[in-house]
Amino acid sequence: MKEQLNSLRSSTIDLLNQITDIKVLVDSRSRILGRKGDLTAILRGLKDLPIDERSTFGQLANQIKAELEAEFDLKETRLREELEHSQIMRESFDVTLPGRRFPLGRSHILNRVTQELVDVFAGLGFQLAEGPEVEIDYYNFEALNMPKDHPARDMQDTFYFSDNLLLRTHTSPVQIRTMEKCRPPVRIVCPGKVYRRDADVTHSPMFMQIEGLWVDKDVSFADLKGILYAFTREYFGEKLGLRFRPSFFPFTEPSAEVDIQCVMCGGSGCRTCSFTGWLEILGAGMIDPTLYGFVNYDSEIQSGFAFGLGIERVAMLKYGIPDIRLFYENDVRFLNQF
Ligand code: FA5
Repeated sequence: MKEQLNSLRSSTIDLLNQITDIKVLVDSRSRILGRKGDLTAILRGLKDLPIDERSTFGQLANQIKAELEAEFDLKETRLREELEHSQIMRESFDVTLPGRRFPLGRSHILNRVTQELVDVFAGLGFQLAEGPEVEIDYYNFEALNMPKDHPARDMQDTFYFSDNLLLRTHTSPVQIRTMEKCRPPVRIVCPGKVYRRDADVTHSPMFMQIEGLWVDKDVSFADLKGILYAFTREYFGEKLGLRFRPSFFPFTEPSAEVDIQCVMCGGSGCRTCSFTGWLEILGAGMIDPTLYGFVNYDSEIQSGFAFGLGIERVAMLKYGIPDIRLFYENDVRFLNQF
């Protein structure tokens, strides 16, 4: 029995020297010292020894058991320390490295320009109005004096959901929606996205407009000019020239297209203004009296004007952006500049 005990002791010490994994250690402990372990089996055999040998071997067995338990404890402590140390090493970091930056988002340049425009017109007494981007034919065309067969519809082809439901081609439907809801005087601006079958350096299939509408007694073309000059001075911060060219819109009479002196070259001519010195930024005119019939206004008493300004064009002028497509490519190298 002595040999058995000594051999178990030395084989266990050898095993402990080889173990590097806590789980293996725990399993081995139970296999050797556990209730059904090797040492326990030897201890059970004590009862078969003659009485005088029992106490000698009993003492030896208990001594070896205590020694092996201590060895297992020591090994477990070491393995746990090693594990903890390697975890710390894995997670450790250099405190002298610069901190990680959390990139901050910002408003898209077009949203910022839109807000700036709304602020300028608010300063001129215009309230903010809203209208849907998915519009019905009546508001987008019919009530703006463009019946089904009107040739002016050809210039504003758009995306149709059905014969009657479409993506609005301009913000002008908000004129009708506002006049239906409010009695005069009305003085509103409405910014928003609009859609057309258009695409080149200065035309995008989705673009933004801001509509202006002022209806009251005795509103004249002089008021329209006054407001647009005041807007130009306020927004571009200098006295840029405006040019009113006669034009045609079915919902205004008379109508004009308005050009602004090119901010880039001051009017001498450059690539951005196609060497003309001028850039078209809006359409405008006096409300055609026919429209008042659609909204139950008295055309003998009321008069008013409206304008529709291209927001991308204004942003291009303000920030010297040569191509309208840059706004919608979502290239952060471009967007981060503003
Ligand atoms: C209209 O959309 C009229 N609703 C404007 C109006 C309102 C006239 C009220 C009278 C009274 P027009 O199609 O010209 O008009 O567009 C107005 C402005 O939108 C243009 O001057 C231009 O600045 C801009 N624009 C037009 N088409 C595009 C496009 N595809 N991409 C970018 N900007 C555009």
